[in-house]
Amino acid sequence: MDVQPEVSFSIQLAITIRQMQERDLPLLEWHGEFEHFRQVFRRSYQDQHSGRRCLLVADCNQYPVGRLFILYESRNQYLADGHQRAYLYSFAVLPLFRRQQIGTRLILAAEEILRRQHYSRATIAVAQDNEGALRLYQRHGYTIFGEDDGRWRYTDHRGMTRHVYEPCWLLEKTLTGDE
Ligand SMILES: CC(C)(COP(=O)(O)OP(=O)(O)OC[C@H]1O[C@@H](n2cnc3c(N)ncnc32)[C@H](O)[C@@H]1OP(=O)(O)O)[C@@H](O)C(=O)NCCC(=O)NCCS
Repeated sequence: MDVQPEVSFSIQLAITIRQMQERDLPLLEWHGEFEHFRQVFRRSYQDQHSGRRCLLVADCNQYPVGRLFILYESRNQYLADGHQRAYLYSFAVLPLFRRQQIGTRLILAAEEILRRQHYSRATIAVAQDNEGALRLYQRHGYTIFGEDDGRWRYTDHRGMTRHVYEPCWLLEKTLTGDE
């Protein structure tokens, strides 16, 4: 029996960092991996209209392969106070697309949006066991200024309340000039 020989080739993919649109909502679930965040994504998307949040996606062929959200004002004023500090969160890149600077581009795009709106600080929380992400943030100038027990809850796609407990470091970066 003839066996098909292996064939190798390379491809180049264009990635666009843009604001999230309604059509991204089902795709952001990444074929079920994030279906539990269905309501979280929708409510965040709705907040985008009121200007409370800005949701960035890395788009590859109209599929959101990465995401990073900005919260402008939070009950936790040390994270986001609506005029000087804003909070970056929900940061993820599809595993197959990692380590190709998409995450870095998302961070840079978010910081640029904040600079244009005259914010002077960006804040981020990172789980204390997520050494890879911590390394990435520190490389981009974020420093630890505190810690949090990372307790929060959300309603999943089945209407069940889910509780999260993820102790994290709080990081911040001063946004100055162009980078
Ligand atoms: C963190 C994350 C968004 C980075 O995206 P990315 O496109 O791979 O980022 P970049 O290519 O710009 O940078 C790569 C760096 O990310 C960091 N990193 C964090 N988690 C990583 C992981 N699971 N695998 C590989 N790199 C990771 C490393 O510092 C890596 O640099 P290195 O290759 O020198 O070690 C991505 O790894 C991810 O989705 N991780 C799972 C979700 C997560 O941990 N989110 C952060 C929550 S605070």
